[in-house]
Amino acid sequence: MTRHHNHDVLIIGSGAAGLAAALHIADRGHSVAVLSKNAINSGSTQFAQGGIAAAVEQTDSKANHIRDTLVAGAGLCDVDAVSNIINRSSEVIEQLIAWGVNFDKNPSLDDYHLTKEGGHSFRRVLHVADSTGNAVSAALERNASQRKNLELFTHHVAIDLISRPQIPGMTIDGNNARHCIGAYVYDIRQGGVEIFEARHIILATGGASKVYLYTSNPDGSTGDGIAMAWRAGCRVSNMEFNQFHPTCLYHPHAKSFLISEAVRGEGGILLLPDGTRFMQKFDNRLELAPRDIVARAIDHEMKRLGVDCLYLDISHKPAAQIENHFPTIKSRCLELGIDITKEPMPVVPAAHYTCGGVIVDQNGLTDLPGLYAIGETSSTGLHGANRLASNSILECLVYAKLVSETIDTQLNQTTQPEHHLVKREAKTIAAWDESRVTDSDEDVVLSHNWDELRRFMWDYVGIVRTDKRLERAMHRILLLKQEVHDYYSNYKVGNDLIELRNLIQVAELIVKSARMRKESRGLHFTRDYPNKIDPPVDSILTPASKDPLDVFIRQRRA
Ligand code: FAD
Ligand code: SIN
Repeated sequence: MTRHHNHDVLIIGSGAAGLAAALHIADRGHSVAVLSKNAINSGSTQFAQGGIAAAVEQTDSKANHIRDTLVAGAGLCDVDAVSNIINRSSEVIEQLIAWGVNFDKNPSLDDYHLTKEGGHSFRRVLHVADSTGNAVSAALERNASQRKNLELFTHHVAIDLISRPQIPGMTIDGNNARHCIGAYVYDIRQGGVEIFEARHIILATGGASKVYLYTSNPDGSTGDGIAMAWRAGCRVSNMEFNQFHPTCLYHPHAKSFLISEAVRGEGGILLLPDGTRFMQKFDNRLELAPRDIVARAIDHEMKRLGVDCLYLDISHKPAAQIENHFPTIKSRCLELGIDITKEPMPVVPAAHYTCGGVIVDQNGLTDLPGLYAIGETSSTGLHGANRLASNSILECLVYAKLVSETIDTQLNQTTQPEHHLVKREAKTIAAWDESRVTDSDEDVVLSHNWDELRRFMWDYVGIVRTDKRLERAMHRILLLKQEVHDYYSNYKVGNDLIELRNLIQVAELIVKSARMRKESRGLHFTRDYPNKIDPPVDSILTPASKDPLDVFIRQRRA
């Protein structure tokens, strides 16, 4: 029998965005379920190194932070969203401190040590050494475990959202509006599919960088929230802007290990294999130019010289200073035989951040009433064509607060008609139908397609693109989509299948958006259109309910 859970709010994702929203909502007295498809701290948040950008120093200002964000975003940021988020940055830092995050302070002074990263005109990144994400995750998790009305469901992966007509027959603004009322969720440990029903549903599922072969992200960054929202009828924007971090450690045993931009902020320099510095050829901000520029420069030099990696060197700084600020990076490198106080680190660019995502308004609401998106999965307008370093956790936390305020107001208006409706429909959500599927006897299809997708996305839809490469990628995506659709229709779901289906969907959205953009801007660089076109426009994709593969899936699960 299908297990049926019922809460005021369902949050899919337990990173900075999801857990912060859960805490705010629980503190307002509402019941919350938080899902994580792996352990609670398995998202990207846990791995954040550099820190959180906030202009807290007297010599800096919110206006400077806003300006730097707009410059990095290359003309595509939403100015209102940028101001709104950055103007709340001090509030976010105070909240984190109240939740128990101990940001590093300057020795013998009472002020915070601020580090610098690419694109920032001031030192303004608060941090906890080089493992800020770990400190933030631990504080959020500790607080969450103390809230009685907050239930955590680890190893539960959402498959698809459940939506219904808001009021049968009723139209709003000429549309027969649907309302999100929950999700079908696969219990990875027990093996069954459950129904999670709620009055408000928040997607906080992180990014999609796992669509690329090389990434700084953990395995779960498969764009599930973006794919689920798309299938449920929500628009997405700017999916072509995939941020490649310039410096991931290049070593056969260093899976996805990032070398923080703060290393360059504290004086680290980039070198060719012969020890020559090269960034001066590309940008007068040198190693601290925005990420798109540095990643492209490294890619260019690697291809020009035919080498597998370049080098990042901070060994000219005092060993104690390196040890103090970068203990995690130092010890990880040392485990691999590299002493960063004495020698340069081999580095390569890797997919790092999904700038586009599910379109939301200033409160985090998507196109589907009842459904919100926050954190990396959303597109708020903050990042434009390229995210400024250390602006992501800030965005997660600001929107976690905004969304919780909106939901709190709605939940307190108990006379709203949709509440009656949601209650009535609770009885009628269909159980997950497995009557027409069997256990798979050819999982090789999944592993092969996972590898194939990530490899051609890296080769054809990476740092430098062309029309021909995008066309090749799209051709392959459509073949994989059909194959995985057939697999999904015939076999029982499992985590690999759920993630692959989502990754293919997200890959299609990335390539569609990239093909629409006939210019080079920010993170999207194409040899066929090297210049910018003015005025800048967002690439917005609207789901066409005519896509037979998507329609079939929705009908089967309705
Ligand atoms: P995540 O933290 O990625 O969490 C996603 C959650 O969703 C997880 O709990 C996952 O299990 C869950 N989930 C996903 N799909 C499903 C599903 N289908 N069902 C159930 N649960 C699901 N940003 C900064 O601002 N500063 C930094 O210094 C910084 N450093 C970084 C370093 C690294 C190595 C990486 C990878 C990223 C870094 N970033 C940094 C980016 C930043 O960490 C992320 O953008 C941010 O933490 C994302 O938070 P989130 O809550 O949106 O998602
Ligand atoms: C880093 O420490 O370089 C990552 C910062 C970020 O992605 O914002």
